[in-house]
Amino acid sequence: MSIIILAIESSCDDTSAAVSKDAKILANVIAGQKVHELWGGVVPELASRAHQQNIVPVVDLAIQQAGISREEISAIAFTRGPGLIGSLLVGVSFAKAFALAKNLPLIEVNHMQAHILSHFIDSNPSFPFLCLTVSGGHTQIVLVKNFLEMEVVGETLDDAAGEAFDKSAKLLGLPYPGGPLIDKYSKQGDATKFLFPEPQIKDFDFSFSGVKTSILYFLQKETRKNPDFIKENLYDLCASIQKTIVDILLKKLEKAAKKMNIKEVALAGGVSANSELRTRFEELGKKNSWATYIPKFEYCTDNAAMIAIAAHYKFLNNEFSNQQAEPLARYHL
Ligand code: KG4
Ligand code: ZN
Repeated sequence: MSIIILAIESSCDDTSAAVSKDAKILANVIAGQKVHELWGGVVPELASRAHQQNIVPVVDLAIQQAGISREEISAIAFTRGPGLIGSLLVGVSFAKAFALAKNLPLIEVNHMQAHILSHFIDSNPSFPFLCLTVSGGHTQIVLVKNFLEMEVVGETLDDAAGEAFDKSAKLLGLPYPGGPLIDKYSKQGDATKFLFPEPQIKDFDFSFSGVKTSILYFLQKETRKNPDFIKENLYDLCASIQKTIVDILLKKLEKAAKKMNIKEVALAGGVSANSELRTRFEELGKKNSWATYIPKFEYCTDNAAMIAIAAHYKFLNNEFSNQQAEPLARYHL
């Protein structure tokens, strides 16, 4: 019999529902939330309210697009964490109610584990592999030993890579989320025009708060001399900031892969949508003879397809949750 999973993702500001059948994605519906743009960042209370408005139509659409009936579903999966507690609560409550109404088993999924397992939607890395997971909330190098066995070998001590993009963009006066805009404007800029110092952090850990501060001080100094400095140099600033962040990420990834002698290397999370990171990662892979893996664009940022895939492997492993499961803002791998 086929395993059909209905998965819900609501950890931050995207409401998503997906349906998988035997690890193939039949539907992956994502509703973004424009409401945060006005505020320059995600407002948790507004996010929970938008999830509540979106969740029923998003799930309906996913089931419709998948062409399945509710009676065929084998289990309902949900993101338990990490994420915004109010946002998570909407998805967790919905999943529990659905499971109760349809008498279905529940599967809880760790959002970070799901980002990593998104690789198994379209490809098949062999174990063990290293994954650089870069999102708005996390930056980790993870040793993936098996579908459900993972070890964090390095992580950020302060801001995440996505935050570094978004906060730098904010300093440049760009709207939230600034990461994709920095990517876009960088294409027309000179990445060697401005140099920002790279932090010296031990082992495979990262730090981005110093970079952010040096960008802030630099911009303050230059705009005192020329109030139009940012406007006149926007593309070069974007390209230089992007290069700094990508340099920091890839240096640590290469260091970890060499030290651990691993040749299967992957990228995951929202920032892996960044074109400079994707290109330079592939180049680094060629240089080091790695087999490289990057998820398709739509599976990089938050989506429920990755939750469905993670749940599929948990289903096979008989890892089920129950009606007592509560959301976790912090949830380690
Ligand atoms: O994984 P994700 O969708 O949500 C979290 O789990 O955090 O990642 C969102 C992050 C945001 O910080 C966003 O600016 C960043 O990913 N991002 C990008 C790009 N696309 C999304 N950063 C740089 N370049 C991009 N093209
Ligand atoms: Zn994410």
